[in-house]
Amino acid sequence: ARTFLIRAPSHLVLQNMREQVKTSSKLLVLTVATEETDGFLRFMRSADYFNYTVLGMGEAWKGGDVGRSIGGGQKVRLLKNAMEALADQEDLVVLSVDSYDLIFAGGPEEILRKFQQANHKVLFAAEGLVWPDKQLADKYPLVRTGKRYLNSGGIIGYAPYINRIVSQWNLHDNDDDQLFYTKIYLDPLQRESLNMTLDHKCQIFQNLNGAVDEVLLKFGTDRVRVRNTAYDSLPVVVHGNGNTKMYLNYLANYVPNAWNYEHGCSHCDDDVVDFSQLKVGEYPNVLVGVFIEQPTPFLPEFFQRLLTLDYPKDKLKLFVHNNKHIQRFWEENRNVFNSFKVVGPEENLSQGEARNMAMDLCRQDATCDYYFSIDSDVMLTNRQTLKLLIEQNRKIIGPLVTRHGKLWSNFWGALSLDGYYARSEDYVDIVQRKRVGVWNIPYMAHVYLVKGSALRNELKERNYFVLEKLDPDMALCRNAREMGVFMYITNRHEFGRLISTANYNISHYNNDLWQIFENPVDWKEKYIHSNYTRIFTENYLEQPCPDVFWFPVFSEKACDELVEEMEHYGSWSGGKHQRIAGGYETVPTDDIHMKQIGFEKEWLHFIREFISPVTLKVFSGYYTKGYAIMNFVVKYTPERQAYLRPHHDSSTFTINIALNNKGIDFQGGGCRFHRYNCTIESPRKGWSFMHPGRLTHLHEGLPTTGGTRYIAVSFIDP
Ligand SMILES: *[C@@H]1O[C@H](CO)[C@@H](O)[C@H](O)[C@H]1NC(C)=O
Ligand SMILES: *[C@@H]1O[C@H](CO)[C@@H](O)[C@H](O)[C@H]1NC(C)=O
Ligand SMILES: *[C@@H]1O[C@H](CO)[C@@H](O)[C@H](O)[C@H]1NC(C)=O
Ligand SMILES: *[C@@H]1O[C@H](CO)[C@@H](O)[C@H](O)[C@H]1NC(C)=O
Ligand SMILES: *[C@@H]1O[C@H](CO)[C@@H](O)[C@H](O)[C@H]1NC(C)=O
Ligand SMILES: *[C@@H]1O[C@H](CO)[C@@H](O)[C@H](O)[C@H]1NC(C)=O
Repeated sequence: ARTFLIRAPSHLVLQNMREQVKTSSKLLVLTVATEETDGFLRFMRSADYFNYTVLGMGEAWKGGDVGRSIGGGQKVRLLKNAMEALADQEDLVVLSVDSYDLIFAGGPEEILRKFQQANHKVLFAAEGLVWPDKQLADKYPLVRTGKRYLNSGGIIGYAPYINRIVSQWNLHDNDDDQLFYTKIYLDPLQRESLNMTLDHKCQIFQNLNGAVDEVLLKFGTDRVRVRNTAYDSLPVVVHGNGNTKMYLNYLANYVPNAWNYEHGCSHCDDDVVDFSQLKVGEYPNVLVGVFIEQPTPFLPEFFQRLLTLDYPKDKLKLFVHNNKHIQRFWEENRNVFNSFKVVGPEENLSQGEARNMAMDLCRQDATCDYYFSIDSDVMLTNRQTLKLLIEQNRKIIGPLVTRHGKLWSNFWGALSLDGYYARSEDYVDIVQRKRVGVWNIPYMAHVYLVKGSALRNELKERNYFVLEKLDPDMALCRNAREMGVFMYITNRHEFGRLISTANYNISHYNNDLWQIFENPVDWKEKYIHSNYTRIFTENYLEQPCPDVFWFPVFSEKACDELVEEMEHYGSWSGGKHQRIAGGYETVPTDDIHMKQIGFEKEWLHFIREFISPVTLKVFSGYYTKGYAIMNFVVKYTPERQAYLRPHHDSSTFTINIALNNKGIDFQGGGCRFHRYNCTIESPRKGWSFMHPGRLTHLHEGLPTTGGTRYIAVSFIDP
């Protein structure tokens, strides 16, 4: 594709352009772009795809703020300069369009054909709203169907005619271009002599303002179009004018060929950073901002995952806001990273201020290539995350992370009119990874990567996270949108999940033990033995005595934290008979019941989730209700209670989980089943016995001769 970016339309340059045009196609697209914004690059991609010849004219923008107010006269002046050089090209069709918020959905041949069918010399885009002067509404010719009013975002016509229009321009750069064209169009004499009309039914131009409900994506085998359902047309030029830039961003995630069902994402591998070409010493420098804004479950695991990211640590600088929870991590790792700064509660920074501070550290450091912001509720399970994000080479990009089993994620596909959540048509498919790609979206939070160069250019203003009363991430996203910086979310890989921080009760000693309901995946990962699932896949369990089954269930951490929790509580029963609600211990142990530490509900859930499946496997045909009244941790020591005399349990079956190590934490111990003259002398930490409680399995706890032995016991289905 022939594209020319001309910085200043000097006479010489225009002469040159004229030569180019003579040898080019019959259609010439002119646009004014003073900066290569993300929107402009997207426009060029769509133009290249259809092999348009685009002449871009660039010079410093003086046209006022077209985003929100009137302005844009500079565009007419530049067009006027260009048309002077082309006025004698009678057969040349000129298309003048905006480029920052516009894409092509069809090719030049289609445009020319539709223009010819319109049978006029000049055709303007149309829309349903009058702008900027509402008083002019009545002066417009009536139309039976279609859009009645002129929009100057798109003009197509023969070069001499366009020239006759724009040569009338003698206003200022910040005057309104649309008003200028409107006045010419509304003059009946000019309308006739210049043979002008509007593209009422969106054959060529689709302005989205006021028409969002009329358009749909139409998926084809090679490309995706926009269909206008009101006029059953397939517009070629799609313009996100007015308040519809986000909607255009959504459409452009597909149109013309960005993503479709057959081929998936077509641009995902364009312009990527190739790590295989870099020596480790040449990896980009990244400042990692970590934000612990509220008590967060599984924080040690969060830091562990940060430490194990596959990225050279001397290329990482760390900034952490709120040191309350991280003293130990800081002490152990402050020398691991290139630098490690902690801003704690004593500095009394608001969340927005802290986020600004971290981002400024990158912005002001010319060697900072990327700023990676991550909140403590993001569990990155993919060690390649940082590399994968850098590879995509975008100004702002986040990895998709979702709440397990929910549609909750770290991005929004659309915004409501007041700037809050709205569901886009593709949101669920993106969250569930039915559509995979890199998506331009209006809002993201929790974890994202920003280019240092973008922070020092488009995003160089300070206080990005502080804006009116907005939540800090909403402030950042709104600022980025207003600066025309696209934000992307990638779901090309599994990256991790969002932890729930709701209902996090921090009044326990080991609070994460209670997270079995709120964060079941992380709970399982932390507390369930890593070989547990092999019970079902490989029959990974033993039968040391008849009908006594032995299997791994608890991780080291589960054992340690449960013991710590009990010792922290401290009120051991001392082995006395005691009446507890609903049960009576006939052969009393020195114990603390789950109920006493407020862990009964969680424990019973653990039994249902992790013990019941084992029961079903070993006692096939028996469906446990997973109900138990007696759930407790027993402590054996020579000083207090060292053993338990032979007894039956008041249960259908009993589980007995060893919580520490024989030979290390205690000596002696074990369990003997009398009927079978069978003794298990070396219980394994984290492994559970499961045996029938009554009749057949009279058993005793053998004496602990040194140290302290802990076991967790439940009498199930009493
Ligand atoms: C653009 O031009 C190339 C090379 O001439 C051609 O292969 C391609 O099909 C063209 N694209 C379209 C959309 O016509
Ligand atoms: C506009 O020009 C076309 C030819 O391009 C002609 O057929 C048509 O009659 C003209 N319309 C008016 C209103 O002059
Ligand atoms: C922290 O800042 C808030 C508001 O900025 C203020 O009200 C509060 O008194 C400050 N607290 C301390 C301990 O400085
Ligand atoms: C948190 O746990 C403590 C101790 O078990 C309990 O007393 C308290 O009610 C719990 N708080 C909430 C909000 O559940
Ligand atoms: C799981 O089993 C393998 C051998 O089968 C063993 O090497 C590994 O240590 C076990 N994992 C744990 C946590 O005990
Ligand atoms: C029980 O087993 C032990 C060794 O395993 C054996 O010495 C003993 O005689 C057995 N007792 C009975 C009553 O079978």
